[in-house]
Amino acid sequence: MEKIIVTSALPYAYSVPHLGNFVGSVLPADVFYKYLKMKGTDAIFICGSDQHGTPIELAAIKKGIEPQQLADEMHNTIKGLFEKMECTFSYYGKTHTEQNKETVYELFNSLKDKGFITPTEDMQAYCDVDKRFLTDRFIEGTCPYCHSPKARGDQCDECGMLLTPTMLIDPHCTICGKKEIRFLKVKNLAIALDKLQGKVSDFINSRAQNNWSKNAVNKSLGLIKDGLKPRDITRSMKWGFKVPVEGYEDSVIYVWFDAVIGYIGITKEFGESIADRYWKGNDTRLIQFMGKDNIEFHAIMFPAILLGSEKGYILPYTIKASEYLTSRSVKFSKSQGVGLNIEAALQILDADYWRFTLMYLYPETADTEFSLEALKDIVNSVMNDKIGNLVNRVLVIARNNASVLGASGEEGAIGIDAGADDGISSIISSYKANFDKLNIREALRDATALAALGNEIMSSSEPWALAKNATSDVKAKEDFVRIVHKLLRIVFDLGVLLYPFTPLASSKILGYFGIDGAPSISLLDLRATLDTSKEIEILFSKITDKEMGKLRVFENRP
Ligand code: 2FM
Ligand code: ZN
Repeated sequence: MEKIIVTSALPYAYSVPHLGNFVGSVLPADVFYKYLKMKGTDAIFICGSDQHGTPIELAAIKKGIEPQQLADEMHNTIKGLFEKMECTFSYYGKTHTEQNKETVYELFNSLKDKGFITPTEDMQAYCDVDKRFLTDRFIEGTCPYCHSPKARGDQCDECGMLLTPTMLIDPHCTICGKKEIRFLKVKNLAIALDKLQGKVSDFINSRAQNNWSKNAVNKSLGLIKDGLKPRDITRSMKWGFKVPVEGYEDSVIYVWFDAVIGYIGITKEFGESIADRYWKGNDTRLIQFMGKDNIEFHAIMFPAILLGSEKGYILPYTIKASEYLTSRSVKFSKSQGVGLNIEAALQILDADYWRFTLMYLYPETADTEFSLEALKDIVNSVMNDKIGNLVNRVLVIARNNASVLGASGEEGAIGIDAGADDGISSIISSYKANFDKLNIREALRDATALAALGNEIMSSSEPWALAKNATSDVKAKEDFVRIVHKLLRIVFDLGVLLYPFTPLASSKILGYFGIDGAPSISLLDLRATLDTSKEIEILFSKITDKEMGKLRVFENRP
């Protein structure tokens, strides 16, 4: 049977992810994984903390603690917040583990044996104040491409271009803030992407039709067209895995090299036999979610490592990269202080509200603006008015007219058949097709369309009016029973379709029908039974002015 590994880009364990990070990778990966589980697919969802790299070493220096301590503390905090966001990872691991180190060395040594690791000499920035090399984020300056003044030594956040410290204009050290920087010659080791170009190019061309996002196809083909060059995979810094080669004792493996391998290392941390079963199986599909700034590492670097080392690990099947979530047209960014983080978000609204609104605005094909006003509008007019009110009204009508509807037994159980309505069936087919093509935002729109269908039926057939005549008028009774059965079916099916997006609301809805735990998609084809004796709870509430006020404070807005 086909197996699937779903991965989300591994968040850096140095700060709480903001909503832009969350909607870019972890949330859509979780939504998709929940859909796979509903289908009964043999799938695992792997994510975890990216614990190495300069941001963590830098943050640890600033706090005066060891990077490992900071990375482990942040790991626990972030993991807890994702759980509060109702994310159901199969395993949320770490990159600084024995299992990952072994895997990194296994692949590194194999690449080296096969001639894909080459020595390089680079000019590296050295801070005379801190007496250390300034790699990646330890150095900042002006971007040579877009002239943003906040470009880092490895990448410009503004235009997304990958950089090296020598490319920065007017650089300064981010530890001491000074410009007492010299460039010294340093020995590094690089992965010979130039020699692996043919294999990587064949990989992209053969797999890009597997629902890759357009940005992933375009970006990776563009990089291939420009020609791949050797890329350093060692750094002169302390925090990370030591380079297992004589003469490089003062260097560590570059964070991105062990982060992409981290997907395998984390699966091994979950269980060695699980890792073998999924990563070495010919019938496994690896579906990777990430933000668009991570494309190069997943579409070029990771496949190059896997193809060059020939250790039998599977290659990515789908690369699904999101565009950016923006706030007043600026990309959400921790370093620039734009946008809410998930911790602040959860202090004001529960997981369902964020999961729904963020997926409703999922920047799947273009940068998408997120504002508190948009959040309020989606919560109040879609979640509350369209979905919550429909569910509530239908359940109340059914409870108040249980005997007319043929309720039986102590629970006042009403049986509802499946598959009787073309409108419902076509929405369900569209939902499944969209999910299978990874058009996740559209799948949510389908779920919303089902609620809209319910609302249309409600207003065009006025069941409450029919109910008044149902005892005296046979035709009115027949119409009433038929319409309410259809509406109950819509409510039940909504409970199933909403599960990947709003698991809490889904479980409330399905609870009225006696279904506990994660639902199976086959419920859509089965008869359902409503228990009319259960107390009816509100599904969603509107965002109040008080909550808007709190959100504005967190967003740093008056
Ligand atoms: O951009 C980031 O947040 C990285 N920590 C993503 C790493 S993804 C994978 F390679 F681990
Ligand atoms: Zn730039």
